[in-house]
Amino acid sequence: LDNGLARTPPMGFNNWNATHCDASFNESMVKGVADAFVSLGLKDVGYTYVNIDDCWAEPSRDASGNLVPHHTRFPNGIKAVADYVHAKGLKFGIYTSAGTKTCNAANGFPGALDHEKQDAKQFASWGVDYLKYDNCNNQGVDAQKRYKAMRDALAATGRPILYSLCEWGQTTPKVWTWGEPVGNSWRTTGDISDKWSSMIDKLHINDDLAQYAGPGHWNDPDMLEVGNGGMTATEYRTHFSLWAMMAAPLLIGSDIRNASATAQSILKNTDIIALDQDTLGKQATIVSSSGGKTVYTKQLANGDHAVALLNENSSSKTISTTASAIGLGGSSSYRLKDLWSKATSTTSGSISASVPAHGTVVYRVSRG
Ligand code: GLA
Repeated sequence: LDNGLARTPPMGFNNWNATHCDASFNESMVKGVADAFVSLGLKDVGYTYVNIDDCWAEPSRDASGNLVPHHTRFPNGIKAVADYVHAKGLKFGIYTSAGTKTCNAANGFPGALDHEKQDAKQFASWGVDYLKYDNCNNQGVDAQKRYKAMRDALAATGRPILYSLCEWGQTTPKVWTWGEPVGNSWRTTGDISDKWSSMIDKLHINDDLAQYAGPGHWNDPDMLEVGNGGMTATEYRTHFSLWAMMAAPLLIGSDIRNASATAQSILKNTDIIALDQDTLGKQATIVSSSGGKTVYTKQLANGDHAVALLNENSSSKTISTTASAIGLGGSSSYRLKDLWSKATSTTSGSISASVPAHGTVVYRVSRG
């Protein structure tokens, strides 16, 4: 969407993967996350959006049809939280659905279908900078119609609001074929869970979608699980590496207030973040894939390429490619930087590594 936002993929936090609708999702958590963004240096490396997901509202609108913040989770309202987040130099995001109700069916929170203008205005008046717009309870109304109605309602508020479509590709035509003029990102997958198999499944759904991504409009394989405890550190490094290669939104999905040193160091790897945030805005493509060994390449703005060697096997494997195969020919020597170990080396063209089980080696490759 050409609204000046998300020229690189959005970076921030969303509570869903950590809390779902647990009571721990509340004002003090959201404020604590904003505090942690500053104190842990996450803001300094680019994380900006502090976003809240489903279950922030009361189940019914008020007599004027306005949304009502949940009385116990957000006793001071949403604006107070947005103000707090803004005071830290961060941005604030919210969630609703392009249906009559949000996706948390058990509690049935109100959605924005046929309330687009009123809800967009209310969000803008609260200081919302980012809207995640889900697809549940949509009454069979055409998806493009529903998502365009909210796009136009957000634009009419005059406030820049990043627009994240949570339409995960189940309609025909698929959201990535019509998403560019509608949203700043769109989900391409169902919900991720904190497991290796789920993460890898979501990754591969994005494998062939590079042509649809670019500045202002990104494929979104769902939020990060790094730090939630269901994967090993090696697997979380793979998750983070590949999301950056895919120019995916980097939304931290763990309770960063209690992050382990390992999770923090993964999420703060500035060399990996730089791949995600590269201004050329190219999503990686596959160079080769067989036997659970996949090579991805991503073209970067300064002429370098990033290459990721992904090993899905349960034992270590040597994975190899060449500078010309990844799109960087024409030189007699190349410099490699391993973006996790930070080791540097030179090569006349071959690029190879022994990659641990479920690991990913990522090199930044430069000519000369
Ligand atoms: C859907 C979305 C999730 C989350 C939940 C909230 O499942 O895909 O990311 O927002 O709804 O109910």
